[in-house]
Amino acid sequence: DPDDYGPVEDYRTDFDHAWPEYNATAPEVWKELREGGCPVAHSDRYGGMWAPITHETVHEISYDTDHFTSRAVIVSVGRPGDLALPAPIGGAPPITSDPPFHAVARRLLLPAFAPKQIEPWEDEVRRLCVKLLDEMGDITPGETVIDAAVQYAQHIPVNVIGRMLGFPPEDEALFRKFVHDALERINEEPGTREGLSDLGEYIGRQIDDHRENPRDDLTTYLLNVEIDGTPATDDMVGGMIVLLLIAGVDTTWSAIGSSLWHLAQNQEDTQRLVDDPDVMTFALEEFLRAYAPVTMARLVAEDIDFHGCPMKKDDWVLLPFPAANRDPLQFEDPDTFIIDRAKNRHAAFGLGIHRCLGSNLARLELKVAIEEFVRRFPAFELAGDVRWSVGQVRGPRELPVRILQVAD
Ligand code: HEM
Repeated sequence: DPDDYGPVEDYRTDFDHAWPEYNATAPEVWKELREGGCPVAHSDRYGGMWAPITHETVHEISYDTDHFTSRAVIVSVGRPGDLALPAPIGGAPPITSDPPFHAVARRLLLPAFAPKQIEPWEDEVRRLCVKLLDEMGDITPGETVIDAAVQYAQHIPVNVIGRMLGFPPEDEALFRKFVHDALERINEEPGTREGLSDLGEYIGRQIDDHRENPRDDLTTYLLNVEIDGTPATDDMVGGMIVLLLIAGVDTTWSAIGSSLWHLAQNQEDTQRLVDDPDVMTFALEEFLRAYAPVTMARLVAEDIDFHGCPMKKDDWVLLPFPAANRDPLQFEDPDTFIIDRAKNRHAAFGLGIHRCLGSNLARLELKVAIEEFVRRFPAFELAGDVRWSVGQVRGPRELPVRILQVAD
């Protein structure tokens, strides 16, 4: 009974979102906590951190923006007041805003990610995926091992957003390096302001160029938005671009990687996608449910008794959407991957006012990436150790797979 929790000692755990082997081991931990009657766990790490692990409690916290602030969404050992997303976000990022300003910040970006803006990108995303597959060179079925994270998944979101922003195609490798270096620093050291300077300078140059030569792309769109009637400054536009990179790159890379990790170990599911491509509509949602890459966090804004849990101002609260997605009260047989699961209202894109603004783009990239991979390689298997990311966005960073079959 979620209204009848015991004293805090009863649900204290060393719960940590930084487990290695996260996708493989986290569901077991959540199950254990849940079966022990523990819908909100507590950990002493990071100066005190709560971890709701049921769908209901994750849902409730996501919607209660009065008690749970988005001022900082990445858990860190630093003082909460120093955190929030790192510079150069000087602008208006919805992800770290609370109401009422959040609505203003979100409204600026929303039109750029509406379905009618995103759908026309499908062919371009497909061409990019095919190009990456072509670049893998000669493949000998049964022998060749490729790294599906390094050679494939990691390139897709960064290249797509670079193209949407209208950054020069000849800079693609450079831009990718700047973005990945910056993201790595942020993941290793939340709150850091270092590692972003190359990226910040590069984006600054692109903004200058777009101010002089406006065109039909996302950067020009951002340069023309107004925030409460005031034109956006270059800093704000730079901030919005960095936000899109932080929110859209690691996340989508992880979702593509985890889906391929699953398929590499479940040949029957790969075969099903090959035989019946229409099943992709359902498979896409099941990949997102079963391997949701993102865990967000909130800070407690004021002391609150949350279902009997004595939460104190400035305590961290995790929002483990992956755990919500494994709640048996919400999903039948949650730890089984059912490729054509019909009822699947998962929380991978979050819940409430901060729900992912890029979900149309993320779904498009994930769908096309998996479609093209299984079209080219109708059979593949895991071929070595997988290296997982650490932190709040989880997915394979090295994913060796042996190709067993290449399409004619
Ligand atoms: C917010 C997940 C891809 C842009 C969020 C949130 C989640 C999420 C869980 C909620 C944050 C919160 O409650 O604090 C994902 C996943 C993705 C993905 C799983 C890939 C599979 C993208 C992409 C973009 C994007 C491709 C854009 C390029 C954003 C933005 C927000 C957001 C701007 C903040 C929205 C707000 O605060 O109102 N995302 N995301 N995301 N996402 Fe995504």
